Amino acid sequence: MKKKWWHNKTAYQIYPKSFLDTDGDGIGDLKGVIKKLDYLKNLGIDIIWLSPIYCSPLADQGYDISDYYNIDPRFGTMEDMDTLLAEAKKRDMHILMDLVVNHCSDEHEWFKKACEDPDGPYGKFFYIEDYKDGDKLPCNWRSYFGGPVWEKLPGHDDKIYFHAFHKKQPDLNWENPLLRKEVYKMINWWLDKGLDGFRIDAIINIKKLLPFRDFPADREDGLSSIINMIENAEGVGFFLNEMAEETFRKHNAFTVGEVFNAKEEELPLFIGDNGYFSSMFDFEEAIINASQKGGFNAKDVTAEQYKEAIFRSHSRMENIGFLSNIIENHDEPRGVSHFIPEKDLTETAKKMLAGIYYFMPGLPFIYQGQEIGMENVRFDSIDEYDDIATIDEYKVALSAGLSEKEALDAISKISRDNARTPYQWDDTKNAGFTTGKPWLSVNKNYCKINLASQITDPNSVFSFYKKMISVRDNSSYSDTLVYGKFTPYMKEVKNLLAYTREGDKKLLIIANFGNEKQTITLPKKVASVIISNTGRDAITDTNIELLGYEFLLCELYM
Ligand code: GLC
Repeated sequence: MKKKWWHNKTAYQIYPKSFLDTDGDGIGDLKGVIKKLDYLKNLGIDIIWLSPIYCSPLADQGYDISDYYNIDPRFGTMEDMDTLLAEAKKRDMHILMDLVVNHCSDEHEWFKKACEDPDGPYGKFFYIEDYKDGDKLPCNWRSYFGGPVWEKLPGHDDKIYFHAFHKKQPDLNWENPLLRKEVYKMINWWLDKGLDGFRIDAIINIKKLLPFRDFPADREDGLSSIINMIENAEGVGFFLNEMAEETFRKHNAFTVGEVFNAKEEELPLFIGDNGYFSSMFDFEEAIINASQKGGFNAKDVTAEQYKEAIFRSHSRMENIGFLSNIIENHDEPRGVSHFIPEKDLTETAKKMLAGIYYFMPGLPFIYQGQEIGMENVRFDSIDEYDDIATIDEYKVALSAGLSEKEALDAISKISRDNARTPYQWDDTKNAGFTTGKPWLSVNKNYCKINLASQITDPNSVFSFYKKMISVRDNSSYSDTLVYGKFTPYMKEVKNLLAYTREGDKKLLIIANFGNEKQTITLPKKVASVIISNTGRDAITDTNIELLGYEFLLCELYM
């Protein structure tokens, strides 16, 4: 594996709508991001991924783009974007935008032109089929946000178009070379402007299984999961390689793909040296206990399942490339609420979870608010939720027979809005996020969990993150933590999550993923404790009694 400039960096995801609002409209903006660059630099962040800020009707919060070349006025102006790029460069920070090119918005001019003339050139930018009421649909796939993937083409009773996500997100037809050319032109336009790269959205969906065909129905609605399309479509690599060749490689851009369901034999093509992307998210930990029936049916994740998932995905990547590691993002519940049982949700446990994922091989991403231990939100009514996926999940839960209260309980665990509530800066009104009315309610726990109360406290979750970042990225342990060999340790011991990283030093990462003490024999004597979440500063014996949720990063004698 060739060494790259970004290997010893830490990345941070900003969801601009919920980060910081500087003009009082209740929506976070680019000026808010610029204002907090110094905060992020001080935390130790080098790479920032911005969720979409392009013009958009915001049906799916910006993942439905109506103009790829402009900034949505709610987020700011192109001038703000230029300022952000310049200010980041000054601080030696790198900005990534979200590249959403599986689909655009139904309000994009390409789609409007396709509706005007479905047989014209823009009709071929989409998947449009002839259809008469009563006909069978071309395939019975269920869109990610519920209902069939087909929708009547506006203005045409005899035509339908394909949407893998919401009906306001028509899929772009990547089989059409003219469409691909337009996409590459746009990517190059941003890279020429000085952008450092992209996080690439839903990209595995660009290859459709053609001709469209049915799969056995898997719910009462008579539809089948769209995952069948991804598992059976061959040839996405051609598009991905062409895109990389025409755009990213020419600019030496940094890219991270959102890749569900990558086939093991294809991993070197995805993120090996000269792969389609620099890195990727594989979501092994996010899909634990995913249920065919719907999110409401997902069971709580156990420590053993978590260990199994993260170890498996890293073993697959060994010597191939750098995965991007997360515990949460804007599509997931908060990691601490998802992976730690509610009754055990303490600062100690939050730090333990942070330590485990952060020192795994790969590039760590921190999602906004994670560094202060933000938790899931509990809304009292479905009307308080905004996210389209959550609202669909709620309906699915009701139609599966759950009561309104049960459905609300179920979605409160999985809702994407858990991660989208405003950043908790301090304990003033609206957590210091806005002087107006926030577009999504602030989590009521903001007086307890906020940055202002943590930033100068050496024992806070924030300080723990800051320490982890400086140890991994800028210390005598960096080379081992970034490139050292990863080996699971005592994998079979229940609620123990431990591994070594070996390079010019030998390091042990060890965590008791449970609230009961356990005694463990260490592989070697400990030379020094580098990070602890309990204040332990030395270990003299090779037998150690780990406290509940204790985490340690130590150097071992070679
Ligand atoms: C990705 C995004 C998600 C969005 C979807 C459709 O999964 O992360 O937020 O809804 O793609 O663009």
